[in-house]
Amino acid sequence: MKIAPSILSADFTRLGEEIGRVCESGADLLHIDIMDGHFVPNLTFGSMIVEQISKISTIPLDIHLMVENVPFFIQSLLPLKPKYVSFHIEEEKHIHRCIELLRKNDISPALALNPHTSLEGLKYILPSLDMVLVMSVNPGFGGQSFIPMSLQKIKDLKAMIQEYAPHCLIEVDGGVSDKNAQALREAGVDILVAGSYVFGGKDYAKAISSLRG
Ligand code: DX5
Ligand code: ZN
Repeated sequence: MKIAPSILSADFTRLGEEIGRVCESGADLLHIDIMDGHFVPNLTFGSMIVEQISKISTIPLDIHLMVENVPFFIQSLLPLKPKYVSFHIEEEKHIHRCIELLRKNDISPALALNPHTSLEGLKYILPSLDMVLVMSVNPGFGGQSFIPMSLQKIKDLKAMIQEYAPHCLIEVDGGVSDKNAQALREAGVDILVAGSYVFGGKDYAKAISSLRG
């Protein structure tokens, strides 16, 4: 099980320090939420800030795009060489083209699904992906409650992955804590994203290891 703390819940007035602390606390990936105020109502930051983050992070970047203009953001992130870039299946019409662009640049492509989005649309694209990001809250904000039905969706996705794309990982994002980490592990999740659970406490290392189980 890998843990990806989401810096959305970090103290932005001390962002560099927060990133340093979380990198030293055993996190595997740094989850970065890019929101454009259109695909989701909230706004975070763009590639200029992510570039600064990439210079100080000692762990690979896991970028979650919650944006309308997916190709524009992918293009601007290519030089930063993140490990993963996830974009939403609900938004992008030319998914294959975006996947190819990421692959050509040695970045692992991932698709993100909102809580209400069915797994149906994934079937023919799954073998081209390295990861599926299952949103377990409606995207846009940190600190929301985990939607219980997400657990069944993850189990169904796991079965689909075993059939069509065994290499593909499952990441879960939203309302993850020590209360649901074990159930998520058992359902077949490979990467847990946690924002408020990690940054909301004092001991980041303890929070991260409690999720790993
Ligand atoms: C929400 C973001 C998440 C967020 C999770 O739209 O995609 O990554 O930071 O925050 P928590 O873990 O607090 O639900
Ligand atoms: Zn996210």
